[in-house]
Amino acid sequence: MGLYATQIFPRLMDWVMARPAFSQLREALLQPASGEVLEIGFGTGLNLCHYPTTITRLSIVDPAILLPMKVTHRLAAAPYPIQTVHVTAEQLPFPDRGFDTVVSTWTLCTIPDPVLALREVGRVLKPGGRFLFLEHGRSDDQKIAAWQDRLNPIQNVIGCGCNLNRQIDQLIILAGLKIAHLDRFSMATVPRLAGEMYRGTAVKEN
Ligand SMILES: C[S@@+](CC[C@H](N)C(=O)[O-])C[C@H]1O[C@@H](n2cnc3c(N)ncnc32)[C@H](O)[C@@H]1O
Repeated sequence: MGLYATQIFPRLMDWVMARPAFSQLREALLQPASGEVLEIGFGTGLNLCHYPTTITRLSIVDPAILLPMKVTHRLAAAPYPIQTVHVTAEQLPFPDRGFDTVVSTWTLCTIPDPVLALREVGRVLKPGGRFLFLEHGRSDDQKIAAWQDRLNPIQNVIGCGCNLNRQIDQLIILAGLKIAHLDRFSMATVPRLAGEMYRGTAVKEN
């Protein structure tokens, strides 16, 4: 990984995604998190201060080590135990049915094989467990979706693997999870190409 991917992009991402519009969405999404929690694509730890302090433990996975000094401070400030593992979400090193809650925020856009990762989410969720997701993806507006398709190769490069045009709900269904609740909306402070949101809860079918 070059300087852009290890230093410049993570700083830019952290700065943009710590803004109030993002924090408010994180806070609302994470309120139902409970028990043993897994977060995939942890990034720079911007969700840490939004989890209920009552969770039993947070396990975090991300193949990258981004802004280690900043992340160390954020981890130290969290009032619940945390286990960090630097692996991809496509191959989770956890036993079946171990988590009450799995979380993904702005990550399914970037994971190279999101369906495989979501199958892993289903495998590690306990029966009755919940997958909480907050993701940007493909627009329902055909004109915007066409621009997302055109600009996706550029976004892949400047966003370090990020895709603009993934239909997040379909990926979740393809992986065998059942969507219990889905909100679709546009973030007012983000250009629509990257601000078409999928927010919701999915559960294991059986
Ligand atoms: C746009 S960032 C989002 C970070 C964080 N979830 C947030 O809400 O601020 C995408 C994250 O996905 C991570 N990522 C990339 N490939 C991954 C994979 N195969 N499995 C898990 N995470 C991955 C990246 O390292 C990066 O931290």
